[in-house]
Amino acid sequence: MKYLIANWKMNSVDLDVWEREFINFVSSQNNFPNSDELKLIVCLNLYDYYFFSEKIKSSKNAIFNNISLFAQDVSQHDEGAFTGQISSKFLRKAGVEGSIIGHSELRDNGDTENIVFEKGLKLNEQALSNIFCIGEGLEILENNKKKSFLLNQLQTFCKNNVSPDLLAYEPIWAIGTGKEADSENIASAVSVILDFFEEKKIDCPILYGGSVSKSNIEEIISIPGIDGCLVGNSSLDGEQFAIIASKIKS
Ligand code: PGA
Repeated sequence: MKYLIANWKMNSVDLDVWEREFINFVSSQNNFPNSDELKLIVCLNLYDYYFFSEKIKSSKNAIFNNISLFAQDVSQHDEGAFTGQISSKFLRKAGVEGSIIGHSELRDNGDTENIVFEKGLKLNEQALSNIFCIGEGLEILENNKKKSFLLNQLQTFCKNNVSPDLLAYEPIWAIGTGKEADSENIASAVSVILDFFEEKKIDCPILYGGSVSKSNIEEIISIPGIDGCLVGNSSLDGEQFAIIASKIKS
């Protein structure tokens, strides 16, 4: 099974257009991967969630119909005076399947390793899935501290029954820059993650994120140990996202 995740972030996406373009492309293909071969996830804001989940439920296109919807963040708190935050309880009630946690844009906004762990704990309590993001910044890469940095992120998160359901390796310097990480860089991160998973007996797909597009998806997905991708910019257009999906074979 492979995975392709769209992260729409705080961009406005015309849901009708996205759906139409996605389905048009899928319908024009003879062997678009089916839902046993490729799991498609869209991470969106809760306002769009309400409308998009209705579209998915009522669609007659089997591929579109099987798209899973996730949130982009969850609060580490249960309830109370936390203006603007959304609890895991609320996500479950709304029908969302899980959430991204630890995205670098949220880490930049104050999420520490410990807060990311607490968010993982809250999702666990509601039986929701997490997409746990890790990845080093440029300075860490250039100072050869990538391995210890990634290990620290993994160690802080994987405790007290919390572990990733999907792990996305997203080097910060590759996010939104149009410059994806090269195969060597991705492979070295995969090897650190796989060694850690083996030691802790964790079975979890590993995804890559950072400037994934229709022109580099085939190369990235062919890297041993990579089970899918998390896509930001190129997921905002339904056709582009469908083209990327069509190039992923299990
Ligand atoms: P990008 O974003 O594909 O636009 O680089 C990826 C992400 O932030 O998850």
